[in-house]
Amino acid sequence: VGGALVDTHGRVHRDLRISLTDRCSLRCTYCMPEQGNEWLARSSILTLDEIVEVARVAASAGITTFRLTGGEPLLRADIVDVVRRLARISGPDGAPVEIAMTTNGIRLPEFLPGLIDAGLQRLNISIDTLRRDRFRELTRRDRLDDVLDGIAAAAASGLRPLKLNAVAMRGVNDDELVELVEFAIGHGAQLRFIEQMPLDAGHTWDRSSMVTRDEILHALSERWDLTAVPGRGGAPAERWSIDGGPHTVGVIASVTAPFCGDCDRLRLTADGQLRNCLFSTTEYDLLPVLRTGHGDADVDRMLRACVRGKLPGHAINDPSFLQPARGMNAIGG
Ligand code: GTP
Ligand code: 5AD
Ligand code: SF4
Repeated sequence: VGGALVDTHGRVHRDLRISLTDRCSLRCTYCMPEQGNEWLARSSILTLDEIVEVARVAASAGITTFRLTGGEPLLRADIVDVVRRLARISGPDGAPVEIAMTTNGIRLPEFLPGLIDAGLQRLNISIDTLRRDRFRELTRRDRLDDVLDGIAAAAASGLRPLKLNAVAMRGVNDDELVELVEFAIGHGAQLRFIEQMPLDAGHTWDRSSMVTRDEILHALSERWDLTAVPGRGGAPAERWSIDGGPHTVGVIASVTAPFCGDCDRLRLTADGQLRNCLFSTTEYDLLPVLRTGHGDADVDRMLRACVRGKLPGHAINDPSFLQPARGMNAIGG
């Protein structure tokens, strides 16, 4: 209908992050309160057909990657069908889209063969600590072994690049950074440390408990020679090669060195809201568009409205910053 999704700052949008559910099998302290949240009403959760409709229109407007997130995307009963249907979509030039997933890994051993058969191409798995006690405290669930089994399954599957995400937290896992990198290398994966962002449902984020990119690099430099890898493109992670390569480690410095200037992402929440930023305070409601007999042209219009409304970047570092009302689990990681 109208060409690529270019915003008023010239950024071309190619990545749609689709949250499939706000539910999760863990309760990471930086994401959800212990008792969980008030879950989205089942009736407001997008159906498989509705997700596919949005994705199809997005692909014809130039979106080339769909990343499935949550909550925990593997809690969605029809996850394999979601992947299968999305993987059949192609762009205006006929090129197939890329299907990626960000998961806590817990149900991977069970689902991975089916997911790969359905067309899943890339996996990012979250793992913040390798110590059982810590894992239980941080995620409030005693499931480290399940996550490790999931990572082992992903490593064995041959899907590459395989990325492991660790949110670095002061006094929680900041003495484990080297071990986490070694663990990733042992699994043929790339570790990426993430600066903690103010997205927890309890709104308790505070700058002093956030470990910065510079602190992370300092800790890793005591062990290895790190050399910056040029050519980040729109990727959130800056990368360094370890002792001359071939292994690399990444840092996603969303707070101290935001990548907003190159941001190419849009988000679709499990309840059908389009968001142009993790931190946007506006959502564009697709539910009525999808449920009252509108057509693709209306979905396309909504996508374009969402892109047009995108601000130059988040304002985490401004005194006037307001945290979004929803937590990360409902926005989509
Ligand atoms: P790749 O394509 O593999 O690079 O995926 P990704 O890094 O975009 O996806 P992933 O879901 O693994 O995200 C890792 C982390 O990047 C998230 O936990 C966030 O901390 C951060 N992140 C992802 N998207 C955004 C975004 O739009 N804005 C900001 N500030 N951070 C983001
Ligand atoms: N800050 C940074 N990253 C976060 N994640 C969840 N909440 C936060 C936060 N407040 C990460 C998870 C996972 C990804 C989906 O988002 O650890 O790797
Ligand atoms: Fe679940 Fe991810 Fe939130 Fe942890 S960060 S509680 S794994 S949705």
